[in-house]
Parts: sequence; structure tokens; C-alpha cells
Amino acid sequence: MDIGSTQERGQWGSKLGFIMAAAGSAVGLGNLWKFPFLAGQNGGGAFVLVYLVLLLLIGFTLMMAEITIGRFTGLNAIGAYRKIKASWAWVGSLGVLAGFLILSFYSVIGGWIIAYIVKAATGTFNTADTKMLGDMFTNFIQSSGTPIFYHGLFMLMTLGIVIGGIQQGIEKYSKILMPALFGMMALVVLRSVTLDGAMEGIKFFITPDFSKITGGVILAALGQVFFSLSLGMGCMITYGSYLSKDTNIPECSLIIPLIDTGVAVMAGFAIIPAAMAFNFPVDAGPSLLFITLPAVFSKMPLGGLMGVIFFVLALFAAVTSSISLLEVCVSYVVDEWNWTRKKATLIISGLIFAAGIPCSLSQGPWSHIKLIKGKGILDSVDFVASNVLLPLGGILLCVFIGWVWGLRRIQHIRKTEEGETIITWELEYTDALKEATNDGKVNFPMATIWVFLIKWLAPVAITIVFFQGVFS
Ligand code: TRP
Repeated sequence: MDIGSTQERGQWGSKLGFIMAAAGSAVGLGNLWKFPFLAGQNGGGAFVLVYLVLLLLIGFTLMMAEITIGRFTGLNAIGAYRKIKASWAWVGSLGVLAGFLILSFYSVIGGWIIAYIVKAATGTFNTADTKMLGDMFTNFIQSSGTPIFYHGLFMLMTLGIVIGGIQQGIEKYSKILMPALFGMMALVVLRSVTLDGAMEGIKFFITPDFSKITGGVILAALGQVFFSLSLGMGCMITYGSYLSKDTNIPECSLIIPLIDTGVAVMAGFAIIPAAMAFNFPVDAGPSLLFITLPAVFSKMPLGGLMGVIFFVLALFAAVTSSISLLEVCVSYVVDEWNWTRKKATLIISGLIFAAGIPCSLSQGPWSHIKLIKGKGILDSVDFVASNVLLPLGGILLCVFIGWVWGLRRIQHIRKTEEGETIITWELEYTDALKEATNDGKVNFPMATIWVFLIKWLAPVAITIVFFQGVFS
């Protein structure tokens, strides 16, 4: 192990710093916007239950796999794969490409959030008229200049944090922003669940109706686990590469998904009961955040303030996610091409900003351009990155760590004096398992299960999602 290079690249100041940064990456628009609306569309409590099961089986498994590879190599995604087995470096490049593509449209949506902070603060949407709110939203995203301006602003915020480097930048901000997010979220939840008529929404959200669990619900939940935990593109490999050697990886791999899910569930409690209380459709999709929620706020006491709080909070979450996407790209260029961090951050941010412009224009003047399956530019980029590159990266990660790098059980066959054959199994401490358990010093009773999940269950399950996403 080359500890020296790890230290030159910087390290997390503490375990808490790492957990906050990684949780900051995971918690984003995926939690605040997508999770509640997917739950709304897929039977409420049934979806939540399936999500939780898959989170433990697959989210935890892949989280641990990525962090382990990252810390073992101390390198970015490409360098990490190359160091363990050179012929696999291209898998890491897939991840860098995915990060670049995701950020190009994530930043456009992040820009919309900034615009809505301004609208909320200036009382622009202080109305419950969803028709008016709908027109306002459509007019805004269809215009050319303003959304691009806000997209640029969002990229500037992201690059401003990443340019400071891993410790002064990402860790410092995440340590402040994550607890702030939790606190503000709690306020909105409190307001939402105490509304008249909120009970119906609460019941819908927490009561699993088993008859609603279909293949489609399971697949939707699995896809969401993937996106929400920032898995499948080497994000957590990169974050793990800055992790100190004595940190307990299994523990971190459990805490991060728990925080992520905590925020997603809170977002569900903030949005679904309120939407039901005011008779807004819980499955309104992309518009739920930008059209329905402002209407909900306007009918609430202190609604204007609630609106500002919610969109500021959504921006925090989006920025702590976008910095992780940019970091994957930047650390690649710093490590592989020996650019300085400053140069890498500025140039890549500029390129991502440029790539985001067509995504933004595709909502208005360029809406006639269809690229994949009749989808516009933004949706096509999202599709290629999220539905093709991420699941592919996840499957390859499982195969790589389980079968190439190696996780093995050794069979012992022994005959007793009576001639009976006794077969016992023992985990072999390969490099992967040694790293994950700090040379066996970390007590990890679930090791056998983890090995099974990563070699068999996770790759098979993700393969199903992948084919569903690409060929449906
Ligand atoms: N997980 C973030 C969210 O929920 C988005 C995100 C950040 C992401 N980094 C990622 C998604 C890497 C996939 C891969 O909004």
C-alpha cells in the first residue's frame, strides 16, 4: 500500500467527516423529490417496505464494496480498478463518464431550485392555484437565458467547494450542511403531519399493502436504492480513497444508507401527508416539487417561510451531491493526468456547464430534438447515465470484487473415526476481506452473508433492473 500518495491527496479529518461527506453525496434531489413521488406512484407503504429490504441487501453490500476498493488503493475509480487488475480500468472510466453526464443535467435541476428559492423569497408563488403555478413553472423552464444563468450559478457553487480540496472543501461544508438539513427537514415534517387531513397520507405512507407489491414496484425500489446512494460510478470509491486506515468500513457502510433513508423518509412525511391533506395528486412526478409543493406551502401558516426553508434545504442537498459528482471527475484528472486541482476543477466545470446548456434548452427552444426512445436531450442524458451506465457499473463492481479481486470460501473436508464425512466452510481472508475488516481486527459477523450477496444476489438483482431499464 502506498500510504504516501494517499496523504498527498488529503484525507478525511475524522470518521464523522467522512460519514457526513458520503451522506451528503447520497442525500440529494433523489431523496427529496424522487423518493416521495416514487412512493406515491408505487403504493406508498408497500414501496417503502421493499425499498428498505433492498437497501439492506444491495445498498449496504455495494456501499461496502466501493469504500473497500477506494481505501485499499487510495485512488480514484479508474486508478483503483487499474491498480488491482489493469484490464479493468475501463470500468472506472464508465463511472467518470457517468458522473460527467449526471452532473450536466443535475446542475440544470439544481439551478431550478435556486430560482425557486428566489421565487419563494419574493412571494412570487404565494398562491394555491395549481394552474397558475403550473404555467409559472413551464414558462420558467421553457425560457432560454434564465435557467442557463441559474445552471451556471449552481455549477459555480459546486466548483467553489470542490476547488478548496477534499478536507477544507467537501468535509467542512458537509459537516455544517448535513445537520442543518436534518434540522430544517424536521421543521417541515412537523408542519406537514399536523395539518388537517394529514392522517390519510401518513397511513398511506407507512402501511404496507402487500397486494401492491408487484415486479414493477420492486424494480422501481431497486433503481432508487442505486441512484439515491450514489452507487455504481465510483463515487464512493473516490470518497473511500480519502479514508484513514483505522476506520470501521462495515459500520460506515451501514450508517450512510441509514442517514440517506432517514432523509428520504422525512421527505416522504413532509410531502405526502401535506399533498393528501390539500387534495393534490401524490404521484404528480417531476412537478410535485415545483408546482404542487408551493401550492401546499401557500395554504400553510408561515407558508412563505416554509417554502424558502424547503428550497434552501433542497439546494443544500443538491450541492452536497453535485460536489461528489464533480469530485469523481476532478480526482481522475488530478491522479491520471497530473493536473493541479485548480486547473482540473475549472476546466471540467466549464465543460460540464457547456454540456448542461443543451439540457436546459431542451426544455424550451430545443424541445423538438429527440435523441433516445423519443426522449428530449435532458431525459436522454439522464437515461444513458442513470439507466445504462450506473447499473452496468454496479454489476461490474460486484463481479470485479467478488470474482476477480476475490472473495472466497474454502471447503474443508474431514472424515471422522466413524467414517462420516464432515464438510465445513471458512472465509478466506483475501485482500478484499482483509481491507474491509482492517486485517480481521473489525468484528464483522455478517462477512459470510456479504460475500454471498456480492457474488450472487446483488449482481443478479441489478442485472434484472438493468434489462428492465434499457429494454422496457
Ligand atoms: N445520490 C444523489 C441524490 O440522491 C445523486 C448522486 C450524487 C448520484 N452522486 C451520485 C447518483 C453518483 C448516482 C451516482 O440526489
